[in-house]
Amino acid sequence: MKQIQEEILKLVSLLNKYSYEYYVEDNPQITDTEYDTLYKQLEKLEEKYPELILENSPTQRVGDRVLDEFEKITHKIPMLSLSNTFSTEDLIDFDARVSKLVPSENVEYICELKIDGLAISINYDNGKLVSAATRGDGTVGEDVTENIKTIFSIPKVLKDKRSFEVRGEVYLPKKSFNILNKEREENNEVLFANPRNAAAGSLRQLDSKITAKRRLSAFIYSIVGDDSIVSQENALNTAKEYELPVNPNFKLCKSIDEVIDYINYWTEHKQDLPYDIDGIVIKVNSYKVQEQIGFTQKSPRWATAYKFPEEELATKLLDVELSVGRTGIITPVAILDPIVISGSTVSKASLHNKDIIDDLDIHIGDMVVVKKAGEIIPKVVRVVKELRTEGSTKYQMPSNCPSCHQETYVKDNDPFTRCKNPDCPDQNIRKIIHFASRDALNIEGLGDKVVATLYDKGIICHTIDLYSLDRDKLIALERMGEKSVDNLLNAIEKSKESSLDKVIYALGILNVGKKAGKILAEKYVNLSNFMNATLEELINLDDVGQITAESILDYLSDDNNIKFINDLINIGMNPQYEINEIKSNNIFSGKTVVLTGKLVELTRNEAKEFLEKNGAKVTGSVTSKTDLVIAGEKAGSKLTKAEQLGIEVINEEQFANMVREVE
Ligand code: IVH
Repeated sequence: MKQIQEEILKLVSLLNKYSYEYYVEDNPQITDTEYDTLYKQLEKLEEKYPELILENSPTQRVGDRVLDEFEKITHKIPMLSLSNTFSTEDLIDFDARVSKLVPSENVEYICELKIDGLAISINYDNGKLVSAATRGDGTVGEDVTENIKTIFSIPKVLKDKRSFEVRGEVYLPKKSFNILNKEREENNEVLFANPRNAAAGSLRQLDSKITAKRRLSAFIYSIVGDDSIVSQENALNTAKEYELPVNPNFKLCKSIDEVIDYINYWTEHKQDLPYDIDGIVIKVNSYKVQEQIGFTQKSPRWATAYKFPEEELATKLLDVELSVGRTGIITPVAILDPIVISGSTVSKASLHNKDIIDDLDIHIGDMVVVKKAGEIIPKVVRVVKELRTEGSTKYQMPSNCPSCHQETYVKDNDPFTRCKNPDCPDQNIRKIIHFASRDALNIEGLGDKVVATLYDKGIICHTIDLYSLDRDKLIALERMGEKSVDNLLNAIEKSKESSLDKVIYALGILNVGKKAGKILAEKYVNLSNFMNATLEELINLDDVGQITAESILDYLSDDNNIKFINDLINIGMNPQYEINEIKSNNIFSGKTVVLTGKLVELTRNEAKEFLEKNGAKVTGSVTSKTDLVIAGEKAGSKLTKAEQLGIEVINEEQFANMVREVE
């Protein structure tokens, strides 16, 4: 028993260390597969010996308590807010006010990034995370303990048995936000407008399993109730020592001029960060000086938040373009007179759906104000009605599909305008594009334009027609040389070897994304079994809910779809699910590899996937443990470091040669 206890302890501390390297330092030292193997090992032991489960075990982070409503927590010390500053003049005034209050001090400031998320307070008692609350109204917040525990970067147990409260910001990284919205789009769910809303929506989930899936992160910026701390810099470094996630970009500034330099730097570079910031927080560093300066009713006098100006610009709405997706939803897009916002040219903006168009009260030809929401998708925020030309009329979503001209409809409680016709050309084209797309069957050379041309010329009417294309007919098409036709035909032929998860995903079943494709492949092993799936089986699968199960059954109950799957089997596409075993006997196995610079032939992810499949460990930074660096174009400091350490460096072409040797 003692031995098992030790093994569990070892696994827990190893996994927590790896999570810390991955989530906080952004510097993973092991591959995902290795992590998963250790995790599963731990899960197995814990299943057998539940009495030995440790509270800080990573398996315990994914909470499973479903609450009816949030309990309330009263903050021991109210959570105040900050005064705002918007310009250099405001900052100079702020500095003057501070200096006047402490004339004998040489005031130093700490500048921190103002993370655009939501404020939280976490209590540690004797080293254990005991409670966590949102800011609420500043005095009373909501108890989100279970949800906070699902955030990997937040330790559930501290190194020492200390008792204090920490405060910080929970946020959703841009990447997780994009993935989440893409999934929501696939599932026809309403999209989150920006990462902050998504973070708030994700943290305030009564079912913490949902929170766990959202991949939230956090940065801690203060420690409350520890008398040994003497300054903000000291607080941040102490938090770091306790392995709490601290944003590394804070800076001690000796004058307001240095503060302004810091602000100018981040105004330029904020777009490069993997998360959103909406400003810079400036705090007097010394606690002693902070105390002398004091508070107003609402906020400390010793700190201020500099808010970045939100770039909003007005331009003319030239038109509204409509596109019909593969599921029949008709999406309106604003066509704009091009303008430059936050460094990039914007000529289109999302109008989302009928409700948004109605709220905005849009007329073609209006001057509209466009903003980069969360700096990601530009959107129209309002119309300058004063500048509206007389006689223009309000834009209405069409009553007929722009592609097939059949009637459109709107479901109850749903803002989307849809096309009824299952044989609508644009829907068909979109289905074929989806089938051939990178994450589905990855048929190179069969992009949006080629599919549209083949469809318009009547060469293909349905996806299955791809497998009986006539070479001569293709060559006769404009801009299709013999070579590109042969490449395309080869790529189509090769797609017959696609794995089952990709084929299931490629079918384009409503609500079935890549992940569901994998789960279904694992369960059904081949297409024939999949065609006979039952509701009971489906809803018992992890991550397949009632809605997805019903869409799968809906799809499978349509004779046309069954015919399509049988046709795929008949042309030779009959994948069997195989568990990918990691190869351990080739030039990459056991090697620690770093990818840097821009790769041309492959994406970083493809290269990483390949290396891991072949037993390599792909890490983020070059250290003495690195065996090989693959340097693409414009490789920078990692390449220099590798050269300094005498580590083997190869370029993309040499890598491609090695790949061929392995394959
Ligand atoms: S210090 C007395 N530091 O900005 C308040 N706040 O009103 C002390 N925020 O919602 C807050 N990043 O959660 C501080 N590095 C940072 C921050 C930060 C984001 C948020 C905070 C609050 C708002 C300030």
